[in-house]
Amino acid sequence: MAKEIKTIGVLTSGGDAPGMNAAIRAVVRTALANGKKVKGILKGYQGLLNEEIVEMEKSGVSNIIQKGGTVLGTARSIEFTTEEGQKKGADICRKHGIDGLVVIGGDGSFRGAQKLANLGINAIGIPGTIDLDIACTDYTIGFDTAINTAMEAIDKVRDTSTSHERCSIIEVMGRHAGYIALWCGIANGAEDILLPERYDNDEQALINNIIDNRKHGKKHHIIINAEGIGHSESMARRIEAATGVETRATILGHIQRGGSPTCKDRMYASIMGSYAVDLLCAGKSKRVVAYAGGKYVDFDINEALAMKKDISEYQFKVSQILGK
Ligand code: ADP
Ligand code: F6P
Repeated sequence: MAKEIKTIGVLTSGGDAPGMNAAIRAVVRTALANGKKVKGILKGYQGLLNEEIVEMEKSGVSNIIQKGGTVLGTARSIEFTTEEGQKKGADICRKHGIDGLVVIGGDGSFRGAQKLANLGINAIGIPGTIDLDIACTDYTIGFDTAINTAMEAIDKVRDTSTSHERCSIIEVMGRHAGYIALWCGIANGAEDILLPERYDNDEQALINNIIDNRKHGKKHHIIINAEGIGHSESMARRIEAATGVETRATILGHIQRGGSPTCKDRMYASIMGSYAVDLLCAGKSKRVVAYAGGKYVDFDINEALAMKKDISEYQFKVSQILGK
């Protein structure tokens, strides 16, 4: 029989994502409703190592569901990636009576949770990243807000691009994953979409496409480029030189990580936050909450981290047909 959890800690880690606050709120309120104490760990694993730990009350999470960012703060911690750092982190959890921990973040953050769980701290991961690049889940908190922010910005660039009959290269976030680029590429009706998972560096194909579209009277040419490919400015210069079409690069950057979360992000974050606490209350550890096959489910953290995910070949094919 697993020992009953008394105090649940919650932290956000890695890149922030809109909706993280809704998840924190759900963790705190569900834990309190189950008679648990809750402690907020500030600034991710680095805050844990620095013992930046605060008591969380019901009122402390009111008026945050609609806010972007994370009220707990987030960080990337090199120290925590060491065995020594992880042992220190587990000891600090014990010192503060934290016997259950909810980690909201991406794969890297889950690796940290896995290490703490191996050291005896019951840990549960909640997928929070704008990149949608966590293999075990069809949804990650923050993705919906990010793509809507990017989509609106791209529409605006398209207006001016059409007026000036230019080519626009718009760079969206995603160092390793092209989900934001693919979704916005389709939703914004881009002529070309460059994904880290698929791009073959064939710039000549882009150039030919622009020249061909001009011949057929297209007044703009939108290229959505993922951050993982990058180099949008130099690409713009080369394309302009090769096509004679004025070309501009716009890098959307961190605008995509902020802002009030959409209804979808608030909803998924709220359910996942409550689900994580329910798992801890049921004596579970080393699990990752996910949304898969139309349901909220949970996976063993080791299995979740071993899973692989790729861009849908069909969606990619559709994006190419529709952009022609
Ligand atoms: P994300 O969680 O969004 O993938 P990172 O990869 O930056 O973001 O990871 C967030 C933090 O998680 C890192 O700064 C580090 O402290 C911790 N972390 C990442 N990988 C590991 C690992 N293999 N072992 C322990 N902690 C890790
Ligand atoms: O959170 C994911 C992400 O936004 C990636 O798309 C991007 O590559 C990375 O984080 C940038 O992180 P930062 O600028 O915070 O180092």
